[in-house]
Amino acid sequence: MAKSLDKWQFGDFQTPDSLAREVTQVLRINHKISPDIVIEPNCGKGAFIRASVDEFLDSKIIGLDINKKYVEEARLSISNHQNSNNVILYESDFFETNWRDLISKFSGYVLVIGNPPWVTSSELSILNSQNLPSKSNFQNRRGIEAITGSGNFDISEWMLLKYVEWLSEREGTIAVLCKYSVARKVIRQARRKSGNRFSTHIYLIDAKFHFRASVEACLFVLSTADIVDNSDCKVYENLKSREISYLIGERDGLILRDTIKYEKWKHLAGQNLKYVWRSGIKHDCSKVMELEQIYDTLFLNGIGKNYYMEEKYLYLLLKSSDIGNGRIENCRRFVLVTQQSVGDDTSNIQNIAPKTWQYLLDHDNYLKNRKSSIYKSKPPYSIFGIGSYSFKGWKIAISGLYKQLKFCLVKPIKGKPVMFDDTVNFLSFETEEEAEFIFKLITSTPAIEFLDSMIFWDEKRPITIDILTRRAVC
Ligand SMILES: C[S@@+](CC[C@H](N)C(=O)[O-])C[C@H]1O[C@@H](n2cnc3c(N)ncnc32)[C@H](O)[C@@H]1O
Repeated sequence: MAKSLDKWQFGDFQTPDSLAREVTQVLRINHKISPDIVIEPNCGKGAFIRASVDEFLDSKIIGLDINKKYVEEARLSISNHQNSNNVILYESDFFETNWRDLISKFSGYVLVIGNPPWVTSSELSILNSQNLPSKSNFQNRRGIEAITGSGNFDISEWMLLKYVEWLSEREGTIAVLCKYSVARKVIRQARRKSGNRFSTHIYLIDAKFHFRASVEACLFVLSTADIVDNSDCKVYENLKSREISYLIGERDGLILRDTIKYEKWKHLAGQNLKYVWRSGIKHDCSKVMELEQIYDTLFLNGIGKNYYMEEKYLYLLLKSSDIGNGRIENCRRFVLVTQQSVGDDTSNIQNIAPKTWQYLLDHDNYLKNRKSSIYKSKPPYSIFGIGSYSFKGWKIAISGLYKQLKFCLVKPIKGKPVMFDDTVNFLSFETEEEAEFIFKLITSTPAIEFLDSMIFWDEKRPITIDILTRRAVC
């Protein structure tokens, strides 16, 4: 147990030798890199040290790691190597190391290589809150938020931004394995700070295969070399690819996944205020607010109890999983829609539907204890994500969670509009004709390609209202 917690705390995923060697080959062959000095700031058991000592024969190689045993293991692994004299390895905490001093001791072209820790700041605070050995070296690092601009961030992102600083005044390349999302954030920050000083390349890697980690990862190469006018980041499907798959870049103030496709279709962009994307109902209490119909007016809630209720305030509910899987015809789940628009008085439910009111009273505790502050000083049993648009019969919906541009045309069921949960984005229409017309436009190849050019599929919620609003419709 302790071992795996340390592994977690130190973001410890040792790189297989074969992958480290592939990386150094890509650097030498594709990027023509022949560094004077190689720095591996978190060298672990030394995969990148071994690969570098074989690939960059004349380079001075420096490796550090916080784990003494790893440093010893790395040292031992190269002890018989003919160039082992070029290598200096020692135990050191990245955050305690005087990098400015260390780097200034060596002149020439620098290659910063490696695979920085795979752990986020919030994971570290969880470890801390569980009162585990507080050896973590990342805790209480002031200014991290100021640098990354975020409350939760990857430690590797913070380290990478430090590496970028090292290259602000000297020639060199950074080549690290990291999350695809981290690479993008670093590109953005580097560009903000240093304009077009760096060229960037991303080679996607299979993290599941190499690290048994379910995350989109890559080899990220940022360099003071290869600068061209266009500062787009070249993305390759894998380490062997020689052909660029797409170019990530900034256009019209947006970070885009595929600038070529975006340029092709951007003339279609535009917002028609008649069609506003909305997200579904937010109630933060599915146990009470979502029910299954047993028969007629008998409903089963998430606590496992049956209640007779009027149908007046109950609407069929499609969840993200229904929309994502195209299950839009048969649904048995209902949601209690207590308001017509946000902030409506709910007390009239008592007269209109007394059984429903009694049900709400019976579950007052659950609803009162909803954590989100949005429910404070609102009428009892309030919901959000509700308005006249919710009650229009025809809808075009897409799940914000699913990693595909799959739109569904949802019709009213038994004369009543269908509702969605708050992870579903949708447009609504009065008539079938209008809904079908817009559905055809939105699912046309140009519209799909245009949207796809802006979506980073590794995001937790890749399809946002913000992106849909830039849609190529009307
Ligand atoms: C993802 S592993 C990669 C190790 C090695 N770079 C490789 O590619 O195999 C991250 C490494 O960072 C080291 N590490 C974690 N926190 C550190 C710190 N504060 N200073 C130096 N090394 C640290 C861990 O011990 C671990 O070996």
